[in-house]
Amino acid sequence: MPTATGVESRLGAAEVARAVLDQGVAADVAFESALAKVTQSQDRALTRRLVHDLMRDWPMADALCRRLIDRPFKRRDRLVFFILAVAITEMRLSREPAHAIVHCAVEATRLAQAQHLAKLVNALLRRFQRDKATLEADCGGSLACQWGYPEWLINRFKGDWPQEWQALLTAGNASPPLTLRVNTRHWSRDQALLALADAGIEAEAMPGLPDAVACAHRHAIRSIPQFDQGAWSVQDASAQWAIEWLNLAPGLRVLDACAGPGGKAAHCLERADIELVAVESVPDRLSQVADGLTRLGLTATTVLGDASQPEDWWDGQLFDRVLIDAPCSATGVIRRHPDIRWLRQPKDLDALVALQASLLRGLWSLVKPGGILVYVTCSVLAVENHQQLELFLETHTDAKALSPPQGAQLPPGRQMSVGWQVLPGEHDWDGFYFAAVERLPAE
Ligand SMILES: C[S@@+](CC[C@H](N)C(=O)[O-])C[C@H]1O[C@@H](n2cnc3c(N)ncnc32)[C@H](O)[C@@H]1O
Repeated sequence: MPTATGVESRLGAAEVARAVLDQGVAADVAFESALAKVTQSQDRALTRRLVHDLMRDWPMADALCRRLIDRPFKRRDRLVFFILAVAITEMRLSREPAHAIVHCAVEATRLAQAQHLAKLVNALLRRFQRDKATLEADCGGSLACQWGYPEWLINRFKGDWPQEWQALLTAGNASPPLTLRVNTRHWSRDQALLALADAGIEAEAMPGLPDAVACAHRHAIRSIPQFDQGAWSVQDASAQWAIEWLNLAPGLRVLDACAGPGGKAAHCLERADIELVAVESVPDRLSQVADGLTRLGLTATTVLGDASQPEDWWDGQLFDRVLIDAPCSATGVIRRHPDIRWLRQPKDLDALVALQASLLRGLWSLVKPGGILVYVTCSVLAVENHQQLELFLETHTDAKALSPPQGAQLPPGRQMSVGWQVLPGEHDWDGFYFAAVERLPAE
């Protein structure tokens, strides 16, 4: 029988779903307040799973709820609509017995102070259980219902990736792997792998990525040996490959222009004895950079500022390397953040593309002649990636595109007109775009 906290998990999931889908709040932010009320750790995990499943099933769950309900709920009862949607997705996708799901949804409705709807929720879910196949067939005709994405994004993927769009959508609905980065200032990857094996954690070194370890299963971070001592970070393979494009060497002066929360800044400092300046425009994210570096025993100069306006914070000394890990649509990491597909709107793209262009423009003059600017996104959209770099190269005659870094192993993905694109799920990496341009000395 479900526990009282199982009921809390369902209510928490409905609250997070409402925050994401009605108010445009990121699920990670909404989880913070919803999970405070869910006491058991396994129930918190359940809340997350329920929300992630609903994000991947929302068009269908929404259509089914509307179909089942004769008259729309009053505005003040909107939370109950989400309790129903969570239950319907759970009945569609999980192995939990239907009667337990219905019971939890009814109790969650009571817990949400909507006792007057408890009987109705029970009746609607029983009806769904009885007529599931017919209702699903009636509601599931659209591409959005079939794939669990908004129609505009499906069309965007189709336009940019006419051969790969279905694989792209499938990858975004899959569970992401747990990939770790070894802090090689703390210990070697071989030592780190032995410690994992001693702790009973199945993992292996990732070919072509000198610091990466792929775990066979997901684990709580606290169970990773010496995590708190700064021996590891959690970082996807694509994000780890990004710093190979910088071709770091001791003594270089490096700018990480969009640094928060600090994953790549830390990786650079673990790799080489460099002087690093980390700029970030959001105070909380800059604090995350500082906290992360402290945990890992690393130091950098951290600056709160708008990287596209260097005149406000730059000390006038040129950089050998500039990394722009640009704010983007994050369409390459939807498998990690399934809510992204509902948070992003077509109009956001124009603003992001303009910001990326201004970062490239504003930071180019900070690169030393002979130095390298690396541009990275976790997007799969052409406008943010190779098309952005094509425009940059057209307008900057002192810029020369460089080839991908040479490693022992061929990375996943493909060469674009400029730069390299990995799509999510290829070799189980996140979807990322990478480009490096050298600043040619003045003639
Ligand atoms: C993709 S994230 C960077 C991830 C980071 N490099 C890492 O590896 O952990 C982009 C970051 O750029 C920041 N950002 C957005 N606009 C910015 C601007 N104009 N100047 C500086 N940072 C900016 C965002 O707040 C966000 O933290």
